[in-house]
Amino acid sequence: MEILITGGAGFIGHNLAIYLKNNGFSVKVLDSFERSTDFAVRRLREADIPMVKASIVDTEEMRVFLKEADVVIHAAAYVDVAESMEKPLIYLENNTLGTASVAKASLEAGVDLLIYLSSAAVYGNPIKLPIDENHPTRPISPYGLSKLMGEEVVRFFSTYGLKQVVLRLFNVYGPGQNAAYAGVVTRFLERARSGLLPIVYGDGGQTRDFIYVDDVAEAVKLVLKTGCVDEIFNIGSGKPVKIRDLAASIMRLFGLEGEPIYTSERRGDIKHSYADISRARTVIGFNPRVDLEHGLKKLLEY
Ligand SMILES: NC(=O)c1ccc[n+]([C@@H]2O[C@H](COP(=O)([O-])OP(=O)(O)OC[C@H]3O[C@@H](n4cnc5c(N)ncnc54)[C@H](O)[C@@H]3O)[C@@H](O)[C@H]2O)c1
Repeated sequence: MEILITGGAGFIGHNLAIYLKNNGFSVKVLDSFERSTDFAVRRLREADIPMVKASIVDTEEMRVFLKEADVVIHAAAYVDVAESMEKPLIYLENNTLGTASVAKASLEAGVDLLIYLSSAAVYGNPIKLPIDENHPTRPISPYGLSKLMGEEVVRFFSTYGLKQVVLRLFNVYGPGQNAAYAGVVTRFLERARSGLLPIVYGDGGQTRDFIYVDDVAEAVKLVLKTGCVDEIFNIGSGKPVKIRDLAASIMRLFGLEGEPIYTSERRGDIKHSYADISRARTVIGFNPRVDLEHGLKKLLEY
């Protein structure tokens, strides 16, 4: 089975590529390298994973590169929520039109399955917890909107026969992570590395759903193994983690004593967010294995 990963030189894409290769799949990555990192490219080279340079918005190029693929995992996107507030149109262009281009090319190239990496950002402010896949989708950022419209585009192409699966990822962390999502993990780690205490907004009672990147990769593997199609799955740990508990875990890891520094709440911050992952558990047997403490330790090895 030939797998092509768009955005494969980004944080999630390169971890996914390495994980799938280590699990016996033949993998290639495609990236514009516009927002890739040297860290990811070096790891891909070390793992001997072929890379091609192309932009997903170029449908002609996509048609050429997708020809040899049996499965396309579409991870390429701009992912900075704050930037999307300032430049909404480039997000719609790159993420939504880019997804349309990938979906159309996948259909025309006869790809067996398109796996679209979507985001919990499609839900917007949670109105009930945990968030299941039927939760209303009311994104509150152009980024979230661009990902939701990408889902609609992928679903639309399935009416022409494209087989697809959508994975709505929560807060992913791991080697080479970007600050956009697991920002708080990155910020706390960076301070701890310099012997500084974490800065927590509000009382730290806010919750988030952190998932280690290898567990995301395992979810993709399970989709491939079970052969499910036309599904949407939340991919998170299913466990709410309080920000003050995250701070405490990182302080413990670095042997930092005392209390985090508490500062005023940030306006507009979502108070609680975590996934209901029972659908993924039931249909593909998804069972996240890396708990936060263990995941943070693994992260430090890099
Ligand atoms: N990181 C998270 O916690 C998280 C959570 C939910 C969803 N996601 C989704 O997962 C996917 C990967 O996110 P990430 O965190 O690895 O981001 P990232 O920025 O690290 O990686 C994205 C990659 O896509 C590439 N790219 C962007 N536009 C492109 C284009 N037009 N053509 C080709 N390549 C292009 C970039 O160069 C980059 O290497 C995204 O679709 C994102 O929406 C991520």
